[in-house]
Amino acid sequence: MLSIRSEFFNHFNQHPSLVVKSPGRINLIGEHTDYNHGFVLPAAIDKYIEVAIAKRTDGAIHMVALDLGETIILPIHNLAPHATQWVNYIIGVVDQVFNNLSSNETRLAAGFNICVHGNIPLGAGLSSSAAVECAVLFAINKLYNFSLSKMEMALMAQNAEHTFAGVQCGLMDMFASLHGQKNKAILLDCDSLAFTYYPIELKDYSIVLFDTQIKHALASSQYNTRRLECEQGLRIIQEKYTSVKTFRDISLEQVEACLVSKIYQRCKYVVEEIARVQLAVQDLAKGDMQAFGKKMFETHVGLSKLYEVSCPELDFLVEAVASNENVLGARMMGGGFGGCTINIIRKIAVEEITKELSAKYNQAMHKELSYYITSIEAGTHLVS
Ligand code: GLA
Repeated sequence: MLSIRSEFFNHFNQHPSLVVKSPGRINLIGEHTDYNHGFVLPAAIDKYIEVAIAKRTDGAIHMVALDLGETIILPIHNLAPHATQWVNYIIGVVDQVFNNLSSNETRLAAGFNICVHGNIPLGAGLSSSAAVECAVLFAINKLYNFSLSKMEMALMAQNAEHTFAGVQCGLMDMFASLHGQKNKAILLDCDSLAFTYYPIELKDYSIVLFDTQIKHALASSQYNTRRLECEQGLRIIQEKYTSVKTFRDISLEQVEACLVSKIYQRCKYVVEEIARVQLAVQDLAKGDMQAFGKKMFETHVGLSKLYEVSCPELDFLVEAVASNENVLGARMMGGGFGGCTINIIRKIAVEEITKELSAKYNQAMHKELSYYITSIEAGTHLVS
């Protein structure tokens, strides 16, 4: 197994000052609701990004992506989006620190060495990019004692994604990576940013992710388009109903009364999903996982038919398990157009279902199916 400390030493002939681990995330329910002032229910998982960091004195950032075997060196001043995307996840948060903490600029401006490594599958919708951003920001925050809170870091990482990586994402991924706790999902109110932890006791069940192994090129452009479509729908409704501030204030009747075609579909999904998450956490509190799972299926239908962010591969994987009595719930997860489905499956049936599904998927889509049996773990932390 790769030791990030020794790799760091090999590259820089210096020991790292600290090592930070930041996890990927799942989302149980509440999809495409974070940027619409709704609710999400994510959790941090047992797949992570690790960074090792130490200060320099010459105003440069030396970045090594160990798993890719790539090194990039940049002056820390005048940072701008880079052609190599993984670099943007690092310099994007550095830029955020400069924008938000000008009094600390001189300290960070001396530069740093950093090595990055991880085991979050890339492009699988498990938020490897957010995990890099959170790991780097958490490490810089510790290294320079900037006293940023987790929420401040989450918001800065989100801005970094907007400005340097070019995706107008919501807050969920960064929030979950930083705030995760073992065996707990987190209900985040994306309007007030208040959050509540919910213990996840699955007993005879496991959370299994089926990875389509594809990432359609549409993903980020369509993501940004969905955001705009929702904003457009909101504006039209606000013209008629002036007391409406966000999607939280909108009823289905208002959607019906004001909107048509695609904008209608998008907004109907969002309003329904916001309500569904609130009911789903009640199921969770009662321990009614049957009811919870049913809502996951409903979310999938909404994402596929109304919000139109699914794809044939994701639909295939959900439909193939939908009538299986050992599967409580299944749906596409994350932004869509590829990545993983999230499934709640009876433990004793996981092996058989996985085997059957892999064969079917291979036959229908001519693709290998990967799967990850996932545990819920702590958020971003120092590795001692
Ligand atoms: C991506 C984004 C998140 C969220 C999901 C959809 O993962 O990064 O902010 O919008 O898609 O729920």
